[in-house]
Amino acid sequence: FYVISGLLTAQDVIPKPRVRMYPKGNEVFKLQSGMTVSYGDEKLKPVAEQLAARIEAQTHTKLKVAAGTSGDISLQLHPRWKGKYWQSVEKDQARNGYSLYVKPGNISIRGVSYTGVFYGSVTLDQLLQKSGDDWIVRPQTILDAPVYPWRGMMLDVARYFFTKEYVMRYIDMMAMHKLNVLHWHLIDDCGWRIEIKSYPKLTEIGAWRGKGKAKYGGFYSQEDIKEIVAYAQARGVMIVPEIEIPAHTLSALAAYPQLGCQGKQFNVPTRHSISPEIYCVGRETTWRFLEDVMDEVIELFPSEFIHIGGDEAKYDRWKHCQHCQKIIKKNGFKSEHELQGWTTRRIAQYVEKKGKRIIGWEEILECGVDKKTGIMVWNKPAIAVKAANHGHPVVMANVRHTYFDTPESRLAGEPPAARWTPPVSLQKAYQWEPTPKGVKPEARKNILGPNGCVWSDQFLHNAKVLADKPGQGTTASEAYIDYLSLPRMAALAEVGWTPQSQRNYGDFIKRMKRQYNRYAARGYKFRVPLPLIKIKASRDGKREVVALQGAGSSGSPIHGGVVRYTLDGSKPTLQSSVLDLSAPLVIEPQQLFTAATFTPDGKRQSLNFRHASKAAKWAKYGVKIGQWKSGQPGNGKPVEMTFDATGKINGNGTYRITFIYTSGAVRLDIDSVKVFRNDAQVAEDIHHGFTGASSSKNSYNVKITSYETGAAFKIKAQVYGDTGNNTNGVVLIKKVSEK
Ligand code: ACM
Ligand code: ZN
Repeated sequence: FYVISGLLTAQDVIPKPRVRMYPKGNEVFKLQSGMTVSYGDEKLKPVAEQLAARIEAQTHTKLKVAAGTSGDISLQLHPRWKGKYWQSVEKDQARNGYSLYVKPGNISIRGVSYTGVFYGSVTLDQLLQKSGDDWIVRPQTILDAPVYPWRGMMLDVARYFFTKEYVMRYIDMMAMHKLNVLHWHLIDDCGWRIEIKSYPKLTEIGAWRGKGKAKYGGFYSQEDIKEIVAYAQARGVMIVPEIEIPAHTLSALAAYPQLGCQGKQFNVPTRHSISPEIYCVGRETTWRFLEDVMDEVIELFPSEFIHIGGDEAKYDRWKHCQHCQKIIKKNGFKSEHELQGWTTRRIAQYVEKKGKRIIGWEEILECGVDKKTGIMVWNKPAIAVKAANHGHPVVMANVRHTYFDTPESRLAGEPPAARWTPPVSLQKAYQWEPTPKGVKPEARKNILGPNGCVWSDQFLHNAKVLADKPGQGTTASEAYIDYLSLPRMAALAEVGWTPQSQRNYGDFIKRMKRQYNRYAARGYKFRVPLPLIKIKASRDGKREVVALQGAGSSGSPIHGGVVRYTLDGSKPTLQSSVLDLSAPLVIEPQQLFTAATFTPDGKRQSLNFRHASKAAKWAKYGVKIGQWKSGQPGNGKPVEMTFDATGKINGNGTYRITFIYTSGAVRLDIDSVKVFRNDAQVAEDIHHGFTGASSSKNSYNVKITSYETGAAFKIKAQVYGDTGNNTNGVVLIKKVSEK
């Protein structure tokens, strides 16, 4: 006999299912050893086997797997459904929809396809929960299908060579989020990672960089690739290989110098830069190479799309190459841009003859390509609008929302990830819609969906931090990719799966609480999220710690985790106080509040959530004697401002007066500071200083030698706004010496 409330439902599942129903009653499905997972179609046998294996790993309950339709957990293929509850998901059913019926006596999963049934089984993983000694599932019905057909993740294995085992682990990670495209960045300047039998030097030479002990690299044999492709297919993941053309290909030119315009010999670079060396497309020998490579790639990958890169091509070599210029002349092209368009169309036509089509980075749209060509937008959303409205299939890899090689924040302690673009917080990864405004209603179907990107060029910049080498048995680099990918991959999954009208960040954060436990159970080195708390100003400069909505009194973003805190600025440890907001927690003005989330096992903790009051932050500059407000300082022309320091100058000695910018469009510049005792000047410091983020010489030292009890002290400063007068800040004074 169980109490239904508190049991896991579709409300706890990530990505969030569409239609959810809960029958009344107290009876639950109870998992028992020896139960059967049945498959109603031979094709579904791998889903049944994987489900039984995952359940055993999770619950230590051994299940049988058998053909038929009478299992305790029954998997079946089902044609399209009809009926009122299906209406909201009907148009997306073909994209691998499923239904999941949990009753006290049995569980039934039906899908329109293999992948649909697989997704039903993934949802079931998330509903199993421990109750006493039992593993149970609450009765419920779920009808579900994804809103976008492409829900991808890009893994850059060129800059860093991830082992076959890690790639498979990454596929598992994707599958638990119902992500379905692995965009596999196999080639770049710093490494060629796919065995091409007709050009063996690509991997003999192109897969390795550096010399001697520093030699580094690796590649996937065609046997490895077949194994990875099959592994992915069994988990509903299509692999789209990326074979860069014409740029980001120095690894190929190092192997075969005749592929470049100058025929020069290069080494595979050990540092990241965008190389000017690109394929010479004016020579037919290059085309024979590209076509041979495509032949082997097409044989290996069942995907409809082949990604041909196409980004960041520099044209310096083409400009000075007689072969490339000949093509330009013959076709009357006005620029090398058009030569890239010609190149892209030619490779597209080649793969189309073999029943495939190409997709490339947004740069190729401007070069002129056929409508059938897919466009992967990474930088300019306007290109997505243009491409979709023209009829191109479009995948959205917006750098601001999906580049997970960036850190999640600018907090101290984030890993040495990409810094050229702003951080992508979990909220940023979640709060966006892949279909940009401006896409016409009839073109909305052309937006295929979102694509997360995990580049690995950090591994080149930060060799010391990420110095793992394949075969050494170390995994710090892999843990780093886990950290960058999780939890943002969950946000991306829900962006691609759940209609925006059903998505809400606060609700997502609540559902994520159990998702972290699932990551931990699988050994994924996810980024431990910061406490779900904020600081509210209270009276008398005091502050109060409050939980964010839905966080509960523990403030923990992880189910079963705790938040620990200190008030002295030290880093929280397992010995620090546990946060419990069922009673108010008030912080005194001078206290530095520092909190961190601890995982349920106490082994890992988040970065620090720190909060100092302004008073505490300014304490080192002394006490406040005044402020300046927008409009007060002169615009470029000095004005005099006066601050009262009576009582703050309280004896002879040296005092330091500091100007701190707090807000506004411009900084404050200071020309001089003078001290007046009862209206007679007694000290001065004349030098130019300014405030702001890069403040300089913004402190003024004055020596008082004629202090008198009861005298009034005034500070007069010549100040001006740098290029306007929209500037605000505070002025503080501190005694720095008795002399
Ligand atoms: C890219 O980030 N160059 C696609
Ligand atoms: Zn050339």
